[in-house]
Amino acid sequence: MKVLIVGSGGREHAIAWKVAQSPKAEKIYCAPGNAGIEEYAQCVDIGAMEFEKLADFAQEKGIDLTIVGMDDPLVGGIVDVFEAKGLKVFGPRKNAAILEGSKAFSKDLMKKYGIPTAAYENFDDPKAALAYLEQAKFPIVLKADGLALGKGVLICDSLEEAKEGVQSIMMDKKFGSAGNTMVIEEFMTGREVSVLSFVDGKTIKTMTSAQDHKRAQDGDQGLNTGGMGTFSPSPFYTEEVDEFCRRHIYQATVDAMAKEGREFKGIIFFGLMLTENGPRVLEYNARFGDPEAQVVLPRMKNDILEVVEACIDGTLDQIDLQFEDNAAVCVVLASKGYPVSYEKGFVIHGLEKFKEKDGYYVFHAGTKKTEKGIVTNGGRVLGVTAKGEDLKAARANAYEAVKLVEFENKYYRNDIGKAIDEA
Ligand code: AMP
Ligand code: GLY
Repeated sequence: MKVLIVGSGGREHAIAWKVAQSPKAEKIYCAPGNAGIEEYAQCVDIGAMEFEKLADFAQEKGIDLTIVGMDDPLVGGIVDVFEAKGLKVFGPRKNAAILEGSKAFSKDLMKKYGIPTAAYENFDDPKAALAYLEQAKFPIVLKADGLALGKGVLICDSLEEAKEGVQSIMMDKKFGSAGNTMVIEEFMTGREVSVLSFVDGKTIKTMTSAQDHKRAQDGDQGLNTGGMGTFSPSPFYTEEVDEFCRRHIYQATVDAMAKEGREFKGIIFFGLMLTENGPRVLEYNARFGDPEAQVVLPRMKNDILEVVEACIDGTLDQIDLQFEDNAAVCVVLASKGYPVSYEKGFVIHGLEKFKEKDGYYVFHAGTKKTEKGIVTNGGRVLGVTAKGEDLKAARANAYEAVKLVEFENKYYRNDIGKAIDEA
């Protein structure tokens, strides 16, 4: 098969690596890709939002399957454009990707179908939002409805802060049209778990659990980022939690989407919070997590192309999805100053060392090939993943692996996976 992957981050590198393991993969392309993905795929200089150009390229090259890694093209309708041209593509259509694309939609869906989530109200009028806040309990959570690079969520401790939040999201349009509608939501506490799943419209098969670390600094301090590291599985995702989610959340979501005439095929990423009153859905995403994919895919036993084709064909019930009985930890190596401001263009040394080490992976997020060699080209630069027989071993291996690569202004958290000591 000829496969095209759409995206350019660590997640797409992990997908490309996994696709390259498949005996079915004959040739892999990635648009636009990055310097690390080039090891497995031919990178093509077409942007992820250039749907027509991508589809023309797929037709020209006789691509058998396109896998879309990123949220923006999915929410923008890339799958519909490919399908209209008779191209096989993995991901939800626009009318189903709304599960991630609109938080107001996903909250209303959960309410209508009794899927456990935080209490909320949706607002498209800032005056009504402000009036509601006058009698609200704090802390409270404000969410821009649309995609906002994971930054559209504000946790407000006081009325004053919340008023500023309404001003910036709905009036100053800090996140653009994503803030035309806003969700105001009850603040919950508990541990967070990410559960990714394959969905074929009817059947859902969940993958092994993972946990992200969103804040920039150790001890969950500092600003929110795209994710500074992950581990898998989560020791807090017990059998009891799994059973609850199977009964009340996973299949219920897939069935709800089908009932709404929005059949979902692709990946559903459940962002869960394990509260005192049981698991609650924090958010849905319509694609693999980044950097969750970097710990989940290395532990997956199946041929990813077989699973993806089963999703498209509606035969996922025949797949026995299996994961290794071990653990993986990913530490993100960022540029000092991320997520605010940082320098780029520093040469990265030591990448070749990963080739010799089984169970160690280096996934590129923001890198570029130059005459000097591969250089830093983003806030998140690399995701260093290592496996181990259990979480502690995987964590020790991952922090050993972190030392294999060097670049100027290298920054990472020292406490990825620390939570496992409390399990
Ligand atoms: P989301 O994009 O909806 O996942 O929100 C980003 C992050 O904000 C989550 O990973 C949580 O850490 C936090 N968050 C979102 N909603 C809530 C909530 N209702 N209560 C507490 N924290 C929340
Ligand atoms: N790691 C969180 C996300 O991919 O949205």
